[in-house]
Amino acid sequence: MTLVRARLGLNIDHVATIRNARGGAHPDPAKAAALAQAAGADGITLHLREDRRHIRDHDLEAVRRASKLPINLEMATTEEMLAIALGFRPHAACLVPEKREERTTEGGLDVARLHDQVEPFVQRLRDAGIRVSLFIEPSKVQVAVAEAMGAPVVELHTGKYVELVFAGDKSGAAAELKRLQEAAEHGHAKGVEIHVGHGLTYNTVRPVAAIPEVRELNIGHFIMGEALFVGLEAAVKRMRQEIDIARGPA
Ligand code: PXP
Repeated sequence: MTLVRARLGLNIDHVATIRNARGGAHPDPAKAAALAQAAGADGITLHLREDRRHIRDHDLEAVRRASKLPINLEMATTEEMLAIALGFRPHAACLVPEKREERTTEGGLDVARLHDQVEPFVQRLRDAGIRVSLFIEPSKVQVAVAEAMGAPVVELHTGKYVELVFAGDKSGAAAELKRLQEAAEHGHAKGVEIHVGHGLTYNTVRPVAAIPEVRELNIGHFIMGEALFVGLEAAVKRMRQEIDIARGPA
């Protein structure tokens, strides 16, 4: 069976991580955005964190100038980030949990617990014509709450699945994949578009990309790591191939 093509969003945060390690202008995330388009990515994802540890404010416009690809801005639910998003007006905004002490986004946004905090952000971004996505754990409850809040998109956190695969925990990984499948099915049935992301690699992407309801995968760290060895264009192309293989013959 051939599934609808799934989009690949390239997360370029870690180009900025390397740049910021030395404080200069190189390597430039905007250049990565320009190359991504040529390599076949369908969108650019970037996360402007509260502590600006990778992407900085000036990167937003620079990335937009460098590439025609739609921009997905990952952001915490803070007034500061909301003001930036409303000013910048990205194609999409993905609401994520953010803790200063974490190395990366460690879990999904608990929209069931934080309903009253998150809902106004969904509404205000939507009112501005920005497509809102909620980065959540693959659970039916979280998906149902996201849908009830009016989020047109959810991004299901794949981090736990990837960790279990790498830990060699076959039954745990199979159970987590099932959770992803069920959450995707549940959301799709309610008219919510399904995205996935976090921690995905060449070796873990296929089962996730093969979930029929998945329309977009957002991948960053692994591709940027591979790009050190084979170049960004080749790394993006290879990930694109893995996704296409999982979706079935064209
Ligand atoms: N999706 C979201 C919402 C994220 O926060 C991240 C990490 O910033 C990613 C996707 C990409 O994850 P990774 O860099 O592990 O591929």
